[in-house]
Amino acid sequence: MRIDIITVVPDLLKSPFEASILKRAIEKGMVEIHLHNLRDYTTSSYNQIDDYQYGGGAGMVMMVEPIDKCISKLKSERTYDEVIYLTPDGDVLNQGMANSLSLQGNMIMLCGHYKGVDQRVRDMFITKEISIGDYVLSGGELAAAVLCDSIIRLIPGVLGNETSALTDAFQDNLLSPPIYTRPAEYKGHEVPKILLSGHQRKIDDWRDEKALQRTKDRRPDLLED
Ligand code: ADE
Repeated sequence: MRIDIITVVPDLLKSPFEASILKRAIEKGMVEIHLHNLRDYTTSSYNQIDDYQYGGGAGMVMMVEPIDKCISKLKSERTYDEVIYLTPDGDVLNQGMANSLSLQGNMIMLCGHYKGVDQRVRDMFITKEISIGDYVLSGGELAAAVLCDSIIRLIPGVLGNETSALTDAFQDNLLSPPIYTRPAEYKGHEVPKILLSGHQRKIDDWRDEKALQRTKDRRPDLLED
């Protein structure tokens, strides 16, 4: 998988890929991340990428031409399965979307800034619009980093057995049950006896029950479908 990220602040997107699981996935050759500075695709002498809104109103709008030039250049070099625009008015990211995107080949992610992009960018190039939640960030970069993380960790072979994504919260629309490690007792707080019992069937049943209870208490909406 190859992910090309178009941004006006490439520095914001460096460190997420320089540590831990994402770094390892890149080193293992399972994913390639390429950052593109939109300012490299401007035509004006002072590298303009945004302009005032037609019709008036506060806030600048990212212009169609630099984005067109960047996306068209990328598309002339290889094929892409998705061109994703990170925006607070997109479909809200969930585990199901991350699962299906992890099966895709190449994708472009476009990070918005200011008021967002000219609507014609969305009409002409974008195949999916994704939000990471109902709040507004300064730009789409951190949202793109979140989206990349949620996708890349699901690529087969990226996670070892000890961190298998199959047991993640949300994989079966349930939150995770409580988890414990040593010591078995800490300042009077004990690990539930069942987890020390060695009865795997009973342990699995206990975990299922706790996961269901936690989901009912905290996220009943997940059980509605
Ligand atoms: N850009 C600004 N806010 C965002 C959000 N919540 N999700 C995705 N992109 C964004």
